[in-house]
Parts: sequence; C-alpha cells; structure tokens
Amino acid sequence: MLERIQETAAFLKEKMPSSPETAIILGTGLGSLAEEITDKYEIKYEDIPYFPVSTVEGHSGKLIFGKLGQKDILAMQGRFHFYEGYTMQQVTFPVRVMRELGIRTLFVSNAAGGMNPAFGIGDLMIITDHINFFPEHPLRGKNIPYGPRFPDMSQAYDRELIRRADAIAEEKGIQVQHGVYVGTQGPTFETPAEYRMYHILGGDAVGMSTVPEVIVANHCGIRVFGISVITDLGVEGKIVEVSHEEVQKAADAAQPKMTEIMRELINRA
Ligand code: HPA
Repeated sequence: MLERIQETAAFLKEKMPSSPETAIILGTGLGSLAEEITDKYEIKYEDIPYFPVSTVEGHSGKLIFGKLGQKDILAMQGRFHFYEGYTMQQVTFPVRVMRELGIRTLFVSNAAGGMNPAFGIGDLMIITDHINFFPEHPLRGKNIPYGPRFPDMSQAYDRELIRRADAIAEEKGIQVQHGVYVGTQGPTFETPAEYRMYHILGGDAVGMSTVPEVIVANHCGIRVFGISVITDLGVEGKIVEVSHEEVQKAADAAQPKMTEIMRELINRA
C-alpha cells in the first residue's frame, strides 16, 4: 500500500508544475470553482498509476494543478464513493497521495440531506464535526505510518478555518449554518425513520461521502475544512421524494455562495 502511494506520488511529482500545500476535493456544489483555476495542468485519473476511476453521473475524474488567485492548488475533480464499489483504501488513496505531495490543508464539499429543522434547501452548512456511519473504517488494517494507530479526532475540522470562514461569510452577507455531518454508505437516500434516527443521534445533515477522506486526512496530519450544501430535507413533515437530479439542481443553485466562501478562504489560508 505504502509503496503504491509513493509510486503514484513520484509519478505526479515529476509532472507537477508547482508544489501546492492546498488541495480541494471539488464535490457537489464546487464544480464551477474548477473554472476559476488558472495555469492549469490536468491529469486524468485513468492516466495516474493505481488511481481508481470515478463513474457516478455528474462527476468526471481528473487532478488539476494550478492557481486559485495567488495560491498554488491541487484539485480533485471527481471523488470516489464507497457505494460505487471501491474499497475504503481506494476511496482514500488520493488523500494519502496528497500527503506525499506535501499538502497541508484540504477543502471539501458535498451535498447532504438536512435534518436540523432550522435548515432550508440551498443552505450552506459549515461542517463542525462528523459521525462515521460507514460500515468499514478507512484506517482498518495495518497502520500506515503517516500517523498513530489510534488517531485523535477531537478536532477533525479545523477550528481556525471555521472561524475564518464565518468571518468571510459575514463580510459577504452570506448566511451559513453549522452542524454535524453524518456519513453513510448510500446509495439509498434515507427513509423518514433513518433521518429521524440520525438526527436523534446528533446529526444535522447526512450524505454519502467526505467522512472517509476526512478521517484519512486527519491521520496524515492534513487539516480539513468542509461545507455541505443542503439539497433536500429529512425533517419530519417536510420529507418528499428525492432524486439525484434534484440534489444536483439544488446544489447548482447554491454553488455561487459556496464558491465565494471557498475561494476567499483558500486565498487567505
Ligand atoms: N441523504 C444522503 N445523501 C444525500 C442526501 C440525503 O438526503 N442528499 C444529498 N446527498
């Protein structure tokens, strides 16, 4: 495993035009941020040794090296989901490669169902913490010596970055929510009883990604900032049928404010 990570990193290091310390996983709601990257150098996942290839609709797969404003960045356009059939090692492989490439900070986004009754569709939720509901742990197995066997998770989402994001949101007059993201395997959306259960357990939003990558980033010593776009509601009395298309539509509508916060935060980070 470690050899593969290092081999992939060595392959990328040879091609990298810069040495970014900032990476972005362009999840749902951040697609258009890719268009703001300048001095781009792109590599398709299929051309990178050991990289899985993403399949889900609405996610194309490539790594983008370039600049966002003045900042050198590495962006992942398209992520790997557990529900697609990848192992947890595959889902989190790119994050470990990032560690080898010298990434210090990771920005992530996702679409999620809101369970907090104060949330509305199109809201942005700054992720303050998570609950790991995936059936397999990404750190299960021999410990990769990027971090301890039993990693601390008391601050999985960096408090200083949250504070700065709040300041940016306030400056720009963008309303943001805060909350706990529950990560589940999918691919079904939740039943009303499941939404209620996750809410009772302490979740504010639920989705099918992010948690594995964030756990591995923390293990590697990479600090994390994440935002969810609330694309549907798992709140009693407000639950209606959900489809992938509707999730995309709600996420697209929220995209400009998500992009604005992320762009600023990355530039100041
Ligand atoms: N549940 C799980 N994943 C999701 C949801 C949801 O309600 N909305 C967007 N992704």
